[in-house]
Amino acid sequence: MITDVSDKSIPELVSLEGRVAVITGGARGIGLAIARRLAEAGASVLIGDLDKEGAEDAAESLRALGRPAIGVELDAHDGDSVSRLADRAILELGTIDIWVNNAGVYPSVPLLEMTEAQWDNVLDLNLKGSFLGAQQAAKRMISAGHGGVIVNMASTASFRAPGPGVAHYVSSKFGVRGLTQALAVELGPHGIRVLAVAPTYIDTPGTAAGREALAAAGRGDLIEQMVATKPLGRMGVPDDVARVVLFCASDLATLMTGSTLPVDAGDLAL
Ligand SMILES: NC(=O)c1ccc[n+]([C@@H]2O[C@H](COP(=O)([O-])OP(=O)(O)OC[C@H]3O[C@@H](n4cnc5c(N)ncnc54)[C@H](O)[C@@H]3O)[C@@H](O)[C@H]2O)c1
Repeated sequence: MITDVSDKSIPELVSLEGRVAVITGGARGIGLAIARRLAEAGASVLIGDLDKEGAEDAAESLRALGRPAIGVELDAHDGDSVSRLADRAILELGTIDIWVNNAGVYPSVPLLEMTEAQWDNVLDLNLKGSFLGAQQAAKRMISAGHGGVIVNMASTASFRAPGPGVAHYVSSKFGVRGLTQALAVELGPHGIRVLAVAPTYIDTPGTAAGREALAAAGRGDLIEQMVATKPLGRMGVPDDVARVVLFCASDLATLMTGSTLPVDAGDLAL
């Protein structure tokens, strides 16, 4: 099922022309950047997000670039909602070739104050949401018989804890890395590749809130502090991650599955 593409040119290898990609949490931040790059490479795109209006606006911005794109409401916690997203892709775009489990949250709370509900909220979205998305995508890819690619959003926190206050987040992202391996083993015989990307700290609307809170508490500019510690000496931006997701989803990566690729400015080398 996974063919030898040695004879293809580089533009052919990068092209996603004729493929359909679904991105969860694609209304803003890393997910939106992924939707943009996959669409630019030729994919038709379905964006699902808790923020319905944001998803619709994101899709409209892709249609303005001439790509078929739809934005719909999604709660990635919820199996029925995820199943409806997958159905919508089949109904309106014809198939699913690429599924990106990007939706995630990263609240911070000290271990001794963490409630069961806070733990569940993070695990349910970041880890169970990735399982639900992968399962719905794989069902449809298997019945279509054409294989596909699932990309999960891990984190450098999938490899090591960045600091205190994120036991739930670190556990969820270690889980995403494990899930990626397990799915790769199980889905490989169906021609479905499963990869994860593991970003370092990326400048997004989600992380902006945390930075503003630190600055308001007089604890300085987090970006400046972080840049100083990065081997590559600059912050990540969403497109840094999106280009690696494009690589994973494309035929450049046909023999890759099960890995979690750091997009880490060298963090994990320290
Ligand atoms: N930004 C970083 O520094 C960083 C680093 C490593 C990993 N990540 C991971 O990247 C992913 C995206 O992060 P971001 O910084 O772009 O986040 P963000 O908060 O800027 O955007 C997240 C998007 O997901 C949507 N979303 C939230 N809950 C949802 C749900 N239940 N169902 C559907 N959509 C939902 C939000 O509405 C939003 O549009 C997350 O999985 C995060 O853990 C981020």
